[in-house]
Amino acid sequence: MQLFRTKPIEQLLAEANDKEHGLKKVLNGTSLVLLGIGAIIGTGIFVLTGTVAANFAGPALILSFLISAVGCVFAGLCYAEFASMIPISGSAYTYSYATLGEFIAWIIGWDLILEYLFASSTVAVGWSGYVVSFLHDYGINIPAALCNAPIDHIKGEGWILTGSIINFPAVFIIALLSTLLVIGIRESAGFNNIIVVIKVIVILLFIGFGLSYVDTSNWKPFVPPNPTGEFGNFGFSGVLRGAAVIFFAYIGFDAVSTAAQEAKNPQRDMPIGILGSLLICTLLYVLVSAVLTGIMHYTKLNVPAPLALAIDQTGLNWLRPLIKIGAIAGLSSVILVMLLGQPRIFFTMANDGLLPKSFSKVHPRFRTPYITTIVTGVVACFIAGLLPIHILSELVSIGTLLAFTIVSISIIILRKNKPDIPRPFKTPWVPWVPLAGAAVCLLQMFSLPWETWERLLIWMALGLVIYFFYSRKKSRLSDNNS
Ligand code: ALA
Repeated sequence: MQLFRTKPIEQLLAEANDKEHGLKKVLNGTSLVLLGIGAIIGTGIFVLTGTVAANFAGPALILSFLISAVGCVFAGLCYAEFASMIPISGSAYTYSYATLGEFIAWIIGWDLILEYLFASSTVAVGWSGYVVSFLHDYGINIPAALCNAPIDHIKGEGWILTGSIINFPAVFIIALLSTLLVIGIRESAGFNNIIVVIKVIVILLFIGFGLSYVDTSNWKPFVPPNPTGEFGNFGFSGVLRGAAVIFFAYIGFDAVSTAAQEAKNPQRDMPIGILGSLLICTLLYVLVSAVLTGIMHYTKLNVPAPLALAIDQTGLNWLRPLIKIGAIAGLSSVILVMLLGQPRIFFTMANDGLLPKSFSKVHPRFRTPYITTIVTGVVACFIAGLLPIHILSELVSIGTLLAFTIVSISIIILRKNKPDIPRPFKTPWVPWVPLAGAAVCLLQMFSLPWETWERLLIWMALGLVIYFFYSRKKSRLSDNNS
């Protein structure tokens, strides 16, 4: 059946050798943990903590973080098995193409486009909030109409125009980083490590110095009661919705699993990398949430730079610029990772014939996938310039949760269908770990509002139209093209 045609693993390996001349197995557990932290810590902690506390969970934001972390651990272990099975670098798209067939691969690929494209825009909007706040401290005020989303969606009212023109700083950072990526700048491991150290130091400073300003009365009630009975509006359902939205804060740890082929000893190093980076980030996230909601009442935290606002409240003026610079540097590196990943997914799909051939062009001088980098940059600029962070982050979360659910279930199917493929890393306790991963991801998906589902369904429907009217016929695996 055409929909389930798979790309032969031999072909994948040949292409990989051609393109990458084999990857060196240089990463150990520690470098994988650092890689993970570099990709994980970003807008989630610096911005969405405030949004989630103020809108859904209150101080129980801590519980939201913990629920979300559990799903990530289970799904992460499945991701690692998937990644280690096909020994080439790539994403879940590539692995599923070789094992589950073209149609599932297309769904995952299309879903990954949603994740990376919209995530880079989401983090850019977070970056904008901190830059505007930083410049304000030095007397430079960017007019509100130039640093906010012109379009929003309000419950009960639908889509509205906010009166703003564009979120200019968000557009600026995407344009700048996309240009650097076209020219061929790559984030080196050394650079990543420096940013990781800066991010973690800034967060530790926030926790360490903020702790003595905590007023424990701000933590009461820990789970604010639901005033209307509507799902997600505080109370326990608010904690669940908070978990789904704050899931965004963990996105990026899949970067660790995609480095499976570069690990020295995947069976040992992958769990260390995935679980280690998740554990460290969860600990930091829980502590930051406790300090943040302890310094300021959660109702005041729905702002673009909540950590900076909390520090203002403490009067620790010397710490203010450090927090902001740390956030700006940290967010920049996350945007770079996302903008780097997205064109490569486009690029691989184009090489397989599923997207137009021009998407797989490499720049003659810079040797970068410049067409897809430019397309990604332009689309991401529009998204970041026009839409608010709450819409973007929920969409990224639901899309990524869907990808994790599919990957978790696939592990169970593949153990049955393809038991003989060598697996350098094996998920423990199959089928229980994958089932638990899928269950927690689905629970979070169902905790998101219907409007977010609608947007996901529209995106996936668009993907299906493209697949059936274009990609299926143009696929390199199609009989007509082989
Ligand atoms: N986890 C990343 C962030 O929070 C995407 O920005």
